[in-house]
Amino acid sequence: MNNASIGMPPAVVVQAVADGYRAQSEDPIHAKHQLQASIRDQVLPRLGQFFGTLPSELTLTRNASMALHIQAVGLDIRRGDEVIITSQEHPAGRAPWSYRSLREGISIKEIHIPSPLPPGEDILARFEAARTPKTRAISFCQVTRGGHLYPVKELCTWARERGIISLVDGAQAVGQFSVDLKNLGCDAYAASLHKWTLAPCGTGFMYINQASADQFRSIFSADPDTIVYGAPGTADLPVRAGIGSALAFVESIGLDRVEARCRHLSDYLKDRLSNEDGVTLLSGTRHQSAPGSTIFEVASVDALVAVDRLAQSNLHIDEHQRDGHNAIRISTHFYNTKTEIDNAVDHLLSIRGTMHST
Ligand SMILES: Cc1ncc(COP(=O)(O)O)c(C=O)c1O
Repeated sequence: MNNASIGMPPAVVVQAVADGYRAQSEDPIHAKHQLQASIRDQVLPRLGQFFGTLPSELTLTRNASMALHIQAVGLDIRRGDEVIITSQEHPAGRAPWSYRSLREGISIKEIHIPSPLPPGEDILARFEAARTPKTRAISFCQVTRGGHLYPVKELCTWARERGIISLVDGAQAVGQFSVDLKNLGCDAYAASLHKWTLAPCGTGFMYINQASADQFRSIFSADPDTIVYGAPGTADLPVRAGIGSALAFVESIGLDRVEARCRHLSDYLKDRLSNEDGVTLLSGTRHQSAPGSTIFEVASVDALVAVDRLAQSNLHIDEHQRDGHNAIRISTHFYNTKTEIDNAVDHLLSIRGTMHST
């Protein structure tokens, strides 16, 4: 029940990775070429289909953090330019901007977004209030670490109409529900594939809209004729090739069915919580929350301690001691059950009063 941190890849994915490493140990060069071909001819086109992009607009990375770094540090802006981010960014979305601020004097404006989430118009109004003639880019999550769903399409449209570049952190979005990047309208997008998409650990991608490619420099090469965004050198080919099996697995179930099941389970959790005294639900409506992640506070339960206590019973949840909360995060995928949810909630309620809240 901590899928927002890392998912459980199915056996076919584990097998694909093992097969890749076995092939490499038996015949390294031949296997290297075969795996490279499979990534080029199968994984990237399939990813492109999955996210509504051209394969050439995608770069495989080790995770979302790496993608966020490559796109933010590569953005062609200079000292004095402003970038707007929000208070709910993950540290991985914040770090590259601190880097640019400290190293290059880019001005980073952080706008406060309350949790629970206010209506979409309120969020847009906060961006508008922070905008100045120097604002060159906005950078924000599609789904926050706590599972709040930002009005991404509206924000990207708002940005485009003002000549502002939009960079979206999709680490918590992809694999929970369908994401069509052209429809979303962002200039750049970063994703993890080892969370909700159930791909091997250490997989993610970066998308740069081809129409916006002139705004993003490669951080690895200064050659203007061949813009390659990804890190050079030998990659973890068996792991990357395993992405193909994860996509095939998710497609065989159907992403719409994954979303419906995730929503069904989180609705069940929310219903259960709403009947308990001393529990404050922080996740919003369907339009404001991701299908699978729910955050809530339990009076007199310290979230950090609770995570440890439940882990001792093999119940894995996470804390969300951020955004002003002492919250618990339960993030259920399609393979979780209502019994597991009941067990986790029962356990949380049973430890009330056995610790001091921080
Ligand atoms: C919103 C958000 N962005 C980025 C990340 C970083 O993802 P990764 O571990 O794939 O780099 C996370 C991880 O939990 C996240 O929740």
